[in-house]
Amino acid sequence: MTVEKCSRNAETEKTALVEEISRLKKEKDAVILAHYYQRPEIQDIADHIGDSLALARIATTLPNRVIVLCGVHFMGETAKILCPEKTVIVPDDSAGCSLADSCPADEFAEFIKAHPGHTVISYVNTSAAVKALTDVVVTSGNARKIVESFPQDQKIIFGPDRNLGNYINSVTGRNMLLWNGACHVHEQFSLEKIVALKKEHPSAQVLAHPECPRHLLMVADKIGSTAVLLDYAVASDCKEFIVATESGILHKMQAMCPDKTFIPAPPNDSTCACNECSFMKLNTLQKVADSLRTLSPAIEVDEDIMDKARKPIERMLQLS
Ligand code: 13P
Ligand code: SF4
Repeated sequence: MTVEKCSRNAETEKTALVEEISRLKKEKDAVILAHYYQRPEIQDIADHIGDSLALARIATTLPNRVIVLCGVHFMGETAKILCPEKTVIVPDDSAGCSLADSCPADEFAEFIKAHPGHTVISYVNTSAAVKALTDVVVTSGNARKIVESFPQDQKIIFGPDRNLGNYINSVTGRNMLLWNGACHVHEQFSLEKIVALKKEHPSAQVLAHPECPRHLLMVADKIGSTAVLLDYAVASDCKEFIVATESGILHKMQAMCPDKTFIPAPPNDSTCACNECSFMKLNTLQKVADSLRTLSPAIEVDEDIMDKARKPIERMLQLS
Protein backbone atom coordinates (compact mmCIF):
# COMPACT_ATOMS: atom_id res chain seq x y z
CA MET A 1 0.00 0.00 0.00
CA THR A 2 1.33 3.48 -0.82
CA VAL A 3 2.02 5.97 2.00
CA GLU A 4 -0.70 8.21 0.59
CA LYS A 5 -3.32 5.41 0.57
CA CYS A 6 -2.29 4.35 4.06
CA SER A 7 -2.76 7.86 5.51
CA ARG A 8 -6.12 8.17 3.67
CA ASN A 9 -7.24 4.94 5.35
CA ALA A 10 -6.10 6.22 8.75
CA GLU A 11 -8.06 9.44 8.18
CA THR A 12 -11.21 7.47 7.21
CA GLU A 13 -10.88 5.31 10.35
CA LYS A 14 -10.45 8.42 12.50
CA THR A 15 -13.55 10.07 11.00
CA ALA A 16 -15.59 6.89 11.63
CA LEU A 17 -14.37 6.80 15.25
CA VAL A 18 -15.23 10.45 15.83
CA GLU A 19 -18.74 9.81 14.44
CA GLU A 20 -19.13 6.75 16.66
CA ILE A 21 -18.08 8.79 19.72
CA SER A 22 -20.58 11.49 18.86
CA ARG A 23 -23.39 8.90 18.48
CA LEU A 24 -22.45 7.13 21.73
CA LYS A 25 -22.32 10.42 23.63
CA LYS A 26 -25.97 11.09 22.77
CA GLU A 27 -27.05 7.50 23.44
CA LYS A 28 -25.38 7.43 26.88
CA ASP A 29 -26.06 11.05 27.85
CA ALA A 30 -22.32 11.65 28.18
CA VAL A 31 -20.05 14.68 28.06
CA ILE A 32 -16.31 14.66 27.33
CA LEU A 33 -13.90 16.80 29.37
CA ALA A 34 -10.23 16.98 28.39
CA HIS A 35 -7.08 18.37 30.00
CA TYR A 36 -4.73 20.50 27.88
CA TYR A 37 -2.10 17.71 27.99
CA GLN A 38 -4.31 15.25 26.12
CA ARG A 39 -3.54 14.14 22.56
CA PRO A 40 -4.65 16.78 19.99
CA GLU A 41 -7.34 14.51 18.51
CA ILE A 42 -8.89 14.09 21.97
CA GLN A 43 -8.82 17.83 22.67
CA ASP A 44 -10.56 18.28 19.29
CA ILE A 45 -13.56 16.09 20.23
CA ALA A 46 -13.92 17.35 23.82
CA ASP A 47 -16.98 19.34 24.88
CA HIS A 48 -14.84 21.26 27.40
CA ILE A 49 -11.06 21.63 27.68
CA GLY A 50 -9.38 23.08 30.74
CA ASP A 51 -6.75 23.01 33.46
CA SER A 52 -7.35 20.90 36.54
CA LEU A 53 -9.23 23.72 38.32
CA ALA A 54 -11.56 24.35 35.36
CA LEU A 55 -12.24 20.63 34.91
CA ALA A 56 -13.24 20.29 38.59
CA ARG A 57 -15.48 23.37 38.33
CA ILE A 58 -17.12 22.35 35.04
CA ALA A 59 -17.85 18.83 36.34
CA THR A 60 -20.19 20.28 39.00
CA THR A 61 -22.26 22.20 36.44
CA LEU A 62 -23.04 19.50 33.89
CA PRO A 63 -26.49 17.95 33.46
CA ASN A 64 -25.18 14.72 31.86
CA ARG A 65 -25.40 11.30 33.51
CA VAL A 66 -21.91 10.28 32.35
CA ILE A 67 -18.62 12.24 32.43
CA VAL A 68 -15.75 10.94 30.31
CA LEU A 69 -12.71 12.62 31.82
CA CYS A 70 -9.80 12.53 29.40
CA GLY A 71 -7.00 13.23 31.83
CA VAL A 72 -5.38 11.20 34.59
CA HIS A 73 -6.85 9.21 37.45
CA PHE A 74 -6.79 11.93 40.15
CA MET A 75 -8.79 14.21 37.83
CA GLY A 76 -11.43 11.49 37.41
CA GLU A 77 -11.48 10.95 41.18
CA THR A 78 -11.99 14.67 41.80
CA ALA A 79 -14.96 14.73 39.39
CA LYS A 80 -16.42 11.58 41.00
CA ILE A 81 -16.05 13.03 44.52
CA LEU A 82 -17.85 16.21 43.43
CA CYS A 83 -20.53 14.30 41.46
CA PRO A 84 -20.95 10.96 43.25
CA GLU A 85 -24.26 10.20 41.54
CA LYS A 86 -22.66 10.28 38.08
CA THR A 87 -20.69 7.67 36.19
CA VAL A 88 -17.19 9.12 35.76
CA ILE A 89 -14.87 7.38 33.32
CA VAL A 90 -11.15 7.86 32.61
CA PRO A 91 -10.78 5.93 29.30
CA ASP A 92 -7.47 4.34 30.33
CA ASP A 93 -7.61 3.53 34.03
CA SER A 94 -3.84 3.09 34.24
CA ALA A 95 -3.38 6.84 33.56
CA GLY A 96 -1.70 7.72 36.87
CA CYS A 97 0.50 10.64 37.93
CA SER A 98 4.08 10.46 39.20
CA LEU A 99 3.44 13.45 41.47
CA ALA A 100 0.36 11.86 43.09
CA ASP A 101 2.35 8.62 43.44
CA SER A 102 5.14 10.49 45.26
CA CYS A 103 2.78 10.94 48.24
CA PRO A 104 1.39 7.67 49.65
CA ALA A 105 -1.52 8.37 52.04
CA ASP A 106 -0.11 6.34 54.97
CA GLU A 107 3.23 8.20 54.84
CA PHE A 108 1.49 11.58 54.49
CA ALA A 109 -0.66 10.73 57.55
CA GLU A 110 2.54 10.04 59.54
CA PHE A 111 4.04 13.34 58.36
CA ILE A 112 0.94 15.24 59.51
CA LYS A 113 0.99 13.43 62.86
CA ALA A 114 4.65 14.36 63.35
CA HIS A 115 3.82 18.07 62.84
CA PRO A 116 0.75 18.90 64.93
CA GLY A 117 -0.90 22.32 64.76
CA HIS A 118 -0.45 22.71 60.99
CA THR A 119 -3.16 23.41 58.41
CA VAL A 120 -2.82 20.80 55.66
CA ILE A 121 -2.93 22.11 52.09
CA SER A 122 -2.72 19.56 49.28
CA TYR A 123 -2.27 20.02 45.58
CA VAL A 124 -5.08 18.47 43.53
CA ASN A 125 -2.51 16.03 42.04
CA THR A 126 -3.08 13.59 44.92
CA SER A 127 -5.10 10.46 45.59
CA ALA A 128 -8.55 10.74 47.19
CA ALA A 129 -7.03 9.17 50.33
CA VAL A 130 -4.53 12.06 50.62
CA LYS A 131 -7.30 14.60 50.01
CA ALA A 132 -9.23 12.97 52.85
CA LEU A 133 -6.33 13.96 55.19
CA THR A 134 -6.36 17.54 53.92
CA ASP A 135 -7.93 20.82 55.13
CA VAL A 136 -8.01 22.50 51.73
CA VAL A 137 -7.08 21.38 48.22
CA VAL A 138 -5.42 23.74 45.74
CA THR A 139 -4.50 23.67 42.05
CA SER A 140 -1.66 25.55 40.41
CA GLY A 141 -4.31 28.07 39.32
CA ASN A 142 -5.40 29.06 42.84
CA ALA A 143 -2.62 27.92 45.23
CA ARG A 144 -1.28 31.42 45.90
CA LYS A 145 -4.72 32.91 46.55
CA ILE A 146 -5.73 30.10 48.90
CA VAL A 147 -2.45 30.13 50.85
CA GLU A 148 -2.78 33.91 51.21
CA SER A 149 -6.29 33.48 52.62
CA PHE A 150 -4.66 32.09 55.81
CA PRO A 151 -3.00 34.39 58.38
CA GLN A 152 0.72 34.99 57.66
CA ASP A 153 1.76 33.17 60.85
CA GLN A 154 -0.45 30.12 60.25
CA LYS A 155 1.65 26.95 60.26
CA ILE A 156 1.03 25.08 57.00
CA ILE A 157 1.97 21.68 55.61
CA PHE A 158 1.98 21.76 51.81
CA GLY A 159 2.09 18.57 49.74
CA PRO A 160 3.05 16.85 47.61
CA ASP A 161 4.88 19.11 45.12
CA ARG A 162 8.05 20.65 46.58
CA ASN A 163 8.50 22.82 43.48
CA LEU A 164 5.03 24.38 43.62
CA GLY A 165 5.44 24.67 47.42
CA ASN A 166 8.81 26.44 47.08
CA TYR A 167 7.35 28.77 44.48
CA ILE A 168 4.36 29.66 46.69
CA ASN A 169 6.69 30.17 49.67
CA SER A 170 8.80 32.57 47.57
CA VAL A 171 5.88 34.69 46.31
CA THR A 172 3.98 34.80 49.61
CA GLY A 173 6.93 35.10 52.03
CA ARG A 174 5.70 31.98 53.87
CA ASN A 175 7.68 29.11 55.22
CA MET A 176 5.30 26.22 54.59
CA LEU A 177 6.55 22.78 55.52
CA LEU A 178 6.90 20.90 52.23
CA TRP A 179 6.38 17.27 51.33
CA ASN A 180 9.26 16.11 49.14
CA GLY A 181 7.37 15.12 45.97
CA ALA A 182 7.68 16.14 42.32
CA CYS A 183 6.42 15.51 38.80
CA HIS A 184 8.88 13.57 36.64
CA VAL A 185 7.90 15.58 33.53
CA HIS A 186 8.43 19.06 34.97
CA GLU A 187 11.64 18.02 36.75
CA GLN A 188 13.10 16.97 33.41
CA PHE A 189 13.37 20.26 31.53
CA SER A 190 16.92 21.24 30.64
CA LEU A 191 18.02 24.72 31.69
CA GLU A 192 21.00 24.53 29.29
CA LYS A 193 18.76 23.71 26.32
CA ILE A 194 16.30 26.48 27.25
CA VAL A 195 19.17 28.97 27.48
CA ALA A 196 20.44 27.77 24.07
CA LEU A 197 16.93 28.24 22.61
CA LYS A 198 16.82 31.76 24.08
CA LYS A 199 20.07 32.57 22.24
CA GLU A 200 18.56 31.32 18.96
CA HIS A 201 15.26 33.15 19.60
CA PRO A 202 16.22 36.26 21.61
CA SER A 203 12.75 37.78 21.52
CA ALA A 204 11.03 34.60 22.76
CA GLN A 205 9.46 34.63 26.22
CA VAL A 206 9.74 31.60 28.49
CA LEU A 207 6.45 30.26 29.92
CA ALA A 208 6.78 27.81 32.82
CA HIS A 209 4.46 25.74 34.97
CA PRO A 210 5.15 26.10 38.73
CA GLU A 211 5.79 22.34 38.95
CA CYS A 212 9.19 23.15 37.37
CA PRO A 213 12.13 23.45 39.78
CA ARG A 214 13.35 26.86 40.98
CA HIS A 215 16.33 27.15 38.56
CA LEU A 216 13.88 26.92 35.63
CA LEU A 217 11.36 29.32 37.13
CA MET A 218 14.17 31.86 37.51
CA VAL A 219 14.43 32.20 33.70
CA ALA A 220 10.65 32.31 33.15
CA ASP A 221 8.84 35.44 31.95
CA LYS A 222 5.51 33.99 33.07
CA ILE A 223 4.77 31.28 35.65
CA GLY A 224 1.31 29.77 35.91
CA SER A 225 -1.11 26.91 35.47
CA THR A 226 -1.77 25.61 31.97
CA ALA A 227 -4.79 27.94 31.64
CA VAL A 228 -2.81 30.96 32.91
CA LEU A 229 0.02 30.29 30.42
CA LEU A 230 -2.48 29.93 27.58
CA ASP A 231 -4.26 33.19 28.47
CA TYR A 232 -0.92 34.97 28.76
CA ALA A 233 0.20 33.76 25.30
CA VAL A 234 -3.09 34.92 23.77
CA ALA A 235 -2.93 38.39 25.37
CA SER A 236 0.81 39.00 24.87
CA ASP A 237 2.30 41.16 22.09
CA CYS A 238 5.23 38.75 21.96
CA LYS A 239 5.30 36.46 18.90
CA GLU A 240 7.53 33.62 20.13
CA PHE A 241 7.39 31.50 23.26
CA ILE A 242 9.46 28.70 24.77
CA VAL A 243 6.99 26.55 26.71
CA ALA A 244 8.21 24.67 29.80
CA THR A 245 5.27 22.43 30.53
CA GLU A 246 3.87 19.24 29.01
CA SER A 247 3.84 19.69 25.25
CA GLY A 248 0.11 18.88 24.79
CA ILE A 249 -0.66 22.52 25.67
CA LEU A 250 0.99 23.62 22.41
CA HIS A 251 -1.99 22.30 20.43
CA LYS A 252 -4.39 24.80 22.01
CA MET A 253 -1.79 27.60 22.08
CA GLN A 254 -1.16 27.19 18.36
CA ALA A 255 -4.88 26.97 17.58
CA MET A 256 -5.64 30.15 19.53
CA CYS A 257 -2.59 32.06 18.26
CA PRO A 258 -1.98 30.93 14.67
CA ASP A 259 0.36 33.90 14.06
CA LYS A 260 2.67 33.04 16.99
CA THR A 261 5.42 30.45 17.36
CA PHE A 262 5.50 28.02 20.29
CA ILE A 263 8.69 26.09 20.93
CA PRO A 264 8.50 23.19 23.41
CA ALA A 265 11.22 23.30 26.08
CA PRO A 266 13.35 20.16 25.67
CA PRO A 267 14.04 17.66 28.45
CA ASN A 268 17.48 16.59 29.77
CA ASP A 269 19.05 13.31 28.70
CA SER A 270 17.03 12.93 25.54
CA THR A 271 17.18 13.71 21.87
CA CYS A 272 13.44 14.52 21.93
CA ALA A 273 12.54 18.15 21.30
CA CYS A 274 9.56 18.10 23.65
CA ASN A 275 8.52 16.62 26.96
CA GLU A 276 5.41 14.45 27.17
CA CYS A 277 3.54 12.97 30.14
CA SER A 278 3.20 9.31 29.17
CA PHE A 279 0.20 8.96 31.53
CA MET A 280 -1.69 11.78 29.82
CA LYS A 281 -1.07 10.21 26.41
CA LEU A 282 -2.60 6.84 27.38
CA ASN A 283 -6.11 7.96 26.44
CA THR A 284 -6.84 7.48 22.74
CA LEU A 285 -9.89 8.00 20.52
CA GLN A 286 -10.38 4.22 20.37
CA LYS A 287 -10.36 4.01 24.20
CA VAL A 288 -12.84 6.90 24.44
CA ALA A 289 -15.21 5.04 22.07
CA ASP A 290 -14.75 1.72 23.92
CA SER A 291 -15.31 3.32 27.32
CA LEU A 292 -18.50 5.01 26.11
CA ARG A 293 -19.79 1.73 24.71
CA THR A 294 -19.21 -0.20 27.98
CA LEU A 295 -19.36 2.72 30.46
CA SER A 296 -16.11 1.48 31.92
CA PRO A 297 -13.58 1.76 33.45
CA ALA A 298 -15.66 3.81 35.89
CA ILE A 299 -13.97 5.57 38.80
CA GLU A 300 -14.88 4.06 42.18
CA VAL A 301 -13.93 5.70 45.49
CA ASP A 302 -14.58 4.32 48.97
CA GLU A 303 -17.67 6.11 50.43
CA ASP A 304 -15.93 7.18 53.63
CA ILE A 305 -12.86 8.55 51.79
CA MET A 306 -15.14 10.26 49.27
CA ASP A 307 -17.06 12.07 52.04
CA LYS A 308 -13.84 13.19 53.77
CA ALA A 309 -12.17 14.26 50.50
CA ARG A 310 -15.19 16.28 49.31
CA LYS A 311 -14.91 18.93 52.05
CA PRO A 312 -11.39 20.20 51.15
CA ILE A 313 -12.24 20.19 47.44
CA GLU A 314 -15.45 22.17 48.03
CA ARG A 315 -13.52 24.53 50.27
CA MET A 316 -11.10 25.12 47.40
CA LEU A 317 -13.97 25.91 45.03
CA GLN A 318 -15.39 28.39 47.54
CA LEU A 319 -12.03 30.08 48.14
CA SER A 320 -10.99 30.40 44.50
P1 13P B 1 -2.86 22.37 35.72
O1 13P B 1 -3.46 22.55 37.06
O2 13P B 1 -2.11 23.54 35.25
O3 13P B 1 -3.89 21.89 34.76
O4 13P B 1 -1.76 21.22 35.82
C1 13P B 1 -2.10 19.90 36.06
C2 13P B 1 -0.94 19.02 35.94
O5 13P B 1 -1.03 17.84 36.06
C3 13P B 1 0.33 19.67 35.71
O6 13P B 1 1.28 18.71 35.50
FE1 SF4 C 1 1.19 14.12 36.90
FE2 SF4 C 1 3.29 15.37 35.89
FE3 SF4 C 1 1.69 14.03 34.26
FE4 SF4 C 1 0.86 16.34 35.41
S1 SF4 C 1 2.50 16.08 33.92
S2 SF4 C 1 -0.30 14.44 35.25
S3 SF4 C 1 1.87 16.19 37.41
S4 SF4 C 1 2.94 13.14 35.91
